Amino acid sequence: MTRHRIAVIGGDGIGPEVTALAITVVRAAGVEIDTTELELGGARYLRDGTILPDDVLDELRRHDAILLGAVGTPDVPPGVIERGLLLRMRFELDLYVNQRPFAGTAPGHTEPHDFVVIRENTEGPYVGEGGFLRKGTPHEVATQGSVNTRHGVERCVRYAFELARGRSRQHVTLVHKTNVLTFAGDMWQRAFGAMSAEFPEVGTSYHHVDAACIYFVQDPHRYDVVVTDNLFGDILTDLGGAVSGGIGLASSANLNPARTGPSMFEPVHGSAPDIVGTGRANPVAAILSAAMMLDFLGEADAAARIRAACAEPADGTTDEIGAAIAARVG
Ligand code: IPM
Ligand code: MN
Repeated sequence: MTRHRIAVIGGDGIGPEVTALAITVVRAAGVEIDTTELELGGARYLRDGTILPDDVLDELRRHDAILLGAVGTPDVPPGVIERGLLLRMRFELDLYVNQRPFAGTAPGHTEPHDFVVIRENTEGPYVGEGGFLRKGTPHEVATQGSVNTRHGVERCVRYAFELARGRSRQHVTLVHKTNVLTFAGDMWQRAFGAMSAEFPEVGTSYHHVDAACIYFVQDPHRYDVVVTDNLFGDILTDLGGAVSGGIGLASSANLNPARTGPSMFEPVHGSAPDIVGTGRANPVAAILSAAMMLDFLGEADAAARIRAACAEPADGTTDEIGAAIAARVG
């Protein structure tokens, strides 16, 4: 059996609580892992100014995967940890696919849905292109560009088609805003169309992002695999979580499918500093993110057992839920 080297970044708030339980569940499922705990996040930054030094990045590269809890502390201005740690990891480790599965029964529905959002994770408005001119004056200008490369779009769209090919419904929907973003949208649409020709067995649709917001709520069953740009994917996946049992269940994988480095797995939720230590944090999103990690590491059997264990209801405190799931996966 392979031992996997896992870097664990618990982070801030409820992050350390939920990642510790995710690790417990992985071990209970019989997967052999060696973990390296790295103290990074808002609290560390406030203490000594460290966000993500180059040597830590190199250390991350020596692992097979990274499990992250959540980062963010109210005392750190917005953007510092997000850009300096999370986004830096996505860019430097080339985590170009953000995969977020959504299974559940949406409010007002009786039939469960089961779809996956594939979000481009290294481009779009996230690259930080732009700046200020005449900042702080009445004539201030702020620009924030969206960078879309054919290579970046294509590899993300290819991943979505490959994923869809292996699912029973074999369908991909492109979500964008081609009626307004006529440059980026046009390139996405052409890349999508060309890829579709390579996957004749996969059915396709296109929805504008505003319409997709309605369908996510009113008719989520129409989706199998959704592929979209970085910012649309960010927004849509919060909505996906909201219609699939809540953000406490939403898991995600930041993948480098080319495997030129480790991939990173984290719950969609944030650090929730208001409930830290109260036992109210739901560890399921972190545990399901660990299951995605195991899938990516070739431990599909353990991943399936963890998912099945999470599908049964579990009540109680954070630790009680974690213990109940750990007891089921053996
Ligand atoms: C997410 C988060 C991040 C994002 C933030 C914290 C930078 O909202 O993973 O969805 O916008 O991608
Ligand atoms: Mn988000």
